[in-house]
Amino acid sequence: MLSENTIRIIKSTVPVLEVHGTEITRRFYKMMFSNHPELLNVFNHANQKRGRQQQALANTVYAAAANIDRLGDILPAVKQIAHKHRSLGITADQYPIVGENLLAAIKDVLGDAATDEIIGAWAEAYGVIADVFIGIEAQMYEEAEKQEGGWAGFREFKVERKVKESDVIMSFYLVPMDGGPIASFVPGQYISVKLNIPGDPYTHLRQYSLSDAPGKPYYRISTKREIGYGDDPDGMVSGYMHDSVQEGDVLRLSAPAGDFVLDLEDTRPVVLISGGVGLTPTLSMLKTLVERQPERKAVFIHSARNGAVHALRDEVEALASSHPQIGAFWSYSQPTDEDRAEQAYQHEGLIDAKWLRTVLPDGEASYYFCGPVPFMQAINGALRELNVPEADIHYEFFGPKGSLEEP
Ligand code: HEM
Repeated sequence: MLSENTIRIIKSTVPVLEVHGTEITRRFYKMMFSNHPELLNVFNHANQKRGRQQQALANTVYAAAANIDRLGDILPAVKQIAHKHRSLGITADQYPIVGENLLAAIKDVLGDAATDEIIGAWAEAYGVIADVFIGIEAQMYEEAEKQEGGWAGFREFKVERKVKESDVIMSFYLVPMDGGPIASFVPGQYISVKLNIPGDPYTHLRQYSLSDAPGKPYYRISTKREIGYGDDPDGMVSGYMHDSVQEGDVLRLSAPAGDFVLDLEDTRPVVLISGGVGLTPTLSMLKTLVERQPERKAVFIHSARNGAVHALRDEVEALASSHPQIGAFWSYSQPTDEDRAEQAYQHEGLIDAKWLRTVLPDGEASYYFCGPVPFMQAINGALRELNVPEADIHYEFFGPKGSLEEP
């Protein structure tokens, strides 16, 4: 238990740290990677370059610290992160490394203002926060291993089939090398792939949503080739997956994880909205719905730039045409002349409340959405405009959690 005095110090210094947040975390990562270069094999270098991971970790430590006397309030957020950590194989012995370097960075940036009392209080608070994560993750590792067909750590899978789904999306069908059963999952969950790229000194870890329904003898992931834009270079890992990983190759996978999952107890209509490769979890949800809740009404809405990059369209259309309870709608932001000639979409431009209203089911429904950040902000804004209660809205970001507030 932290003393009253420690809690007081933490709460009064959170705003100070928030002011210097970016500087502290930038310093923290620099120090940590210099002291522990092996961690460069664990963190996503592209996220590091964009600063998104810096913000995510810092914001969480401050949010946890601000709630240090009622950590129970932030448990849902902790669980979401713990899923990611478990999927990445983060271990308890790595927590002190993060703690030591974070404290050293705080000291460095605040200078004389960081008295021994303040640093001592933060060391204690970090210990309490880390213990909460470590405890939840230990439980998750145990559950992953105990589940039928489950495993802890990474397991080898062979690429049984590689299928081009659009100009930018490729599916990989993965079967375990050991021939054993594979853990079931809840639609919406993801796996991590651990990769070594020839000529590159680091190991890379990436999360991909499972895009098929559970209960198959394989896992399917559908990955997007990340094409560089502005200062962002082409995605090295996604390019390697598309160009170099071939049928017969072996990939290392961690067991399914994640809390963006379809609630199969709910019987109300479900609305699945995706942008780009964000359709992978929503397609898994749709495929599961027709198998497990064939009576449940579902509306599947997908936004793509145009028909050339619209993946897995046939799969969704086949489901919609054989299941009258499913509606499927396409929105293209920049349709090609061919798309126009074929009348390949129902809506042109960015999805807004006005169009959404015309395709949504009447009455209450559950909403699930996933896609690029600006898309997610627009969908969230539109659903709010349509007075959808917050409790009925579920979403997942690609990569570190961002903000749904429009800039
Ligand atoms: C991801 C917080 C400890 C490694 C994250 C995310 C948050 C976070 C907020 C983003 C989750 C998301 O994707 O939405 C924390 C906090 C920690 C902690 C508050 C301490 C109390 C650690 C430790 C390690 C670690 C000890 C291992 C050295 C990672 C990695 C990611 C991640 C590799 C994935 C993001 C990427 O590579 O871009 N963590 N973390 N974290 N965390 Fe932690």
